[in-house]
Amino acid sequence: MQNSQLGLPIGTTLDRFIKRKQEDFPFATGELSQLLRDIALAGKIVNREINRAGLIGVSGAFGVQNVQGEEQQKLDVIANIRFIRALRNGGEVCAIISEEEEDVIDLSNPKGRYVVAIDPLDGSSNIDVNVSIGTIFSIYRRKSPGGGPVSEEDVLQKGTEQVAAGYLLYGSSAMMVYTTGRGVNGFTYETTLGEFFLSHQNMTIPKTGNIYSINDGACRSFPSFVNDYIDYCKDQSYSARYIGSLVADFHRNLLVGGIYIYPTSNKAPNGKLRLLYECNALAFVVEQAGGKATNGDMRILDIQPTELHQRVPFFIGPKAMVDKAESYKKMAAKAVAE
Ligand code: AHG
Ligand code: MN
Ligand code: MN
Repeated sequence: MQNSQLGLPIGTTLDRFIKRKQEDFPFATGELSQLLRDIALAGKIVNREINRAGLIGVSGAFGVQNVQGEEQQKLDVIANIRFIRALRNGGEVCAIISEEEEDVIDLSNPKGRYVVAIDPLDGSSNIDVNVSIGTIFSIYRRKSPGGGPVSEEDVLQKGTEQVAAGYLLYGSSAMMVYTTGRGVNGFTYETTLGEFFLSHQNMTIPKTGNIYSINDGACRSFPSFVNDYIDYCKDQSYSARYIGSLVADFHRNLLVGGIYIYPTSNKAPNGKLRLLYECNALAFVVEQAGGKATNGDMRILDIQPTELHQRVPFFIGPKAMVDKAESYKKMAAKAVAE
């Protein structure tokens, strides 16, 4: 090793960063900080399970379907259990909304001031083929007084009410990216030390980009404005990039500039992605990074949820790109009105 490398500072661990940020809030109780640490710890455990998946035989279908009617993978089940356990044991949470659970999990924890919505494993069709997958989380404050059961106003909150949100990406490196409403920061996992280190400080999405991410195979039943916008992207010679793991597609687009679209289609009449535990978290992150997320007309964070597993069409990326996509919808609506 060269001497110059020995002279380098060790870097900022996620734990230290969270602690430092907490000191910015003199009245903070530290519970949110602890909750973020709990999520990071569960993420490390899930990352370990994913890394070993091929060896210990947990990849592949589990043989049952989840509440969405999708094939549930063994790692989906494992990730769900790991995160629920971490959140239950941590003591800061009163309720969990999970993609893998039909109903809200009321932890009957009178001291828990937070509600967490989570997609424990996103991109599960990519598990068996060794492609990046992730975890998405949103954190809300409980609205109803502690002590009683959690209520609808606790679990069906608008995205604007999130106090923190982010994702873990299990890719060529594992990463945790999150926001508490004061910018976005990303941490890369150093496996031998078992720590996340600050690697992407104050992340901002490029003002525009030249990547579009959409499942083009469904284009025959997309609304015509979506196909018109895709034609525009092709006219501009943008690159098409679609991994099929929302977290991975979003992360790439956040770093290099690109739009991700999951529109309505025959197969997915309301879109596929879930408002509470997929779209809201990424919408919060993208806005904090200077970008935009809508359902085609309306800001994702302003949508009042009516159901736990509600789906929404999703357009997310640099503001200029999302604005452009929306302009095609407005043009189509105007043409119909005329
Ligand atoms: P999940 O694995 O949590 O069910 O999410 C899968 C989602 C998302 O990650 C991805 O972007 C999208 O499904 C892909 O859907 P298509 O295969 O229809 O493109
Ligand atoms: Mn998902
Ligand atoms: Mn999932």
